[in-house]
Amino acid sequence: VDEAAQQFAINLTDTPLPADEREALKAEPKFGTVFSDHMARMSWNNTDGWNNRRIEKYGPLSLAPAAAVFHYGQEVFEGLKAYRHADGSVWTFRPEENAKRYIRSARRLALPELSVDDFIGSIAALVRTDIEWVPTGEEAALYLRPFMIATEAFLGVRPAYEVEHLVISSPVGPYFSGGVHPVNIWISQEYARASRGGTGEAKCGGNYAASLLPQIAAAKDGFDQVCFLDGQADPAIEELGGMNVFFVKANGDVVTPALSGSILRGVTRSSILQLIEDRGIKVSEEHITLASLRAMLESGEIAEAFACGTAAVITPIGRLADNDFDITINGGEPGKFTMDIREELTDIQNGRRPDRHNWLTRL
Ligand code: COI
Repeated sequence: VDEAAQQFAINLTDTPLPADEREALKAEPKFGTVFSDHMARMSWNNTDGWNNRRIEKYGPLSLAPAAAVFHYGQEVFEGLKAYRHADGSVWTFRPEENAKRYIRSARRLALPELSVDDFIGSIAALVRTDIEWVPTGEEAALYLRPFMIATEAFLGVRPAYEVEHLVISSPVGPYFSGGVHPVNIWISQEYARASRGGTGEAKCGGNYAASLLPQIAAAKDGFDQVCFLDGQADPAIEELGGMNVFFVKANGDVVTPALSGSILRGVTRSSILQLIEDRGIKVSEEHITLASLRAMLESGEIAEAFACGTAAVITPIGRLADNDFDITINGGEPGKFTMDIREELTDIQNGRRPDRHNWLTRL
């Protein structure tokens, strides 16, 4: 980490925000609304490759209106967090996994691959510069948002010859306002976020843009999130707009939709799979059709459900509905297993339990 972080030129002339203003902003941030003083940045072009590693003041970017990202959405991003432990040290969780997914996403969007070292180096350099922005407290973390955009001014449809990688950071509390409480999910039969052969497995902005209209429609009816199907003839459950989903059965087994090529390979998802397996509990990745989910919900076979992601951590699901059914899960209360696995995961991330899988990297 040290060597990778030291590649970033830190030549700051800006004045950071005064400490009292920073602390006030950190106190109760609404998710993703407050940003730290700086950003990490690297440039790429098709002759020199990646170059010019640097830390800059956080602020507006100057881009040509013709920059490809504005027209064809050639963009990918990541999400991870930096946690402050009780002794003041700052750690991040499985950054290599995010780095590898960033590479896979970039490939799908015909963007240049960024090495794992540069990915982690850019994060470490930013967090070390803005270390005072890492909050303390339950549920609090510095959310890190690496993203890569096609900046070449060119309107032809081909991969851009100029690209930027940036990392910004934002002190956050819980993703859903009002803290950790069960959310209501609308299963959309009308809209899909991805399809076979599409970009569903890549973490690119377009997938999230495609989730917004169904999200608005669901919110009008009192739902917090939309669960998307795979768009096939006998449709199967995929994921929510920005989170993976798990179901806990009454017999204790746990099941989550199998990676289909159009589901995001969640780092939180894979960590939860590991933690459940470690408990000796049967956990499977399955093709879960909507029809079979409905049958399991109606028969009481499903006892709990939860959504998971870096931003959402583990969020209990209290209600699942679609055009044909509307079912309250676990009386609309957070499930015991859900909250227990949540506590285990957040304890590991925050240094309160042993990190037996070596998931933490000190920044
Ligand atoms: C994350 O969980 O980090 C994401 O990128 C998802 C988004 C809904 C914030």
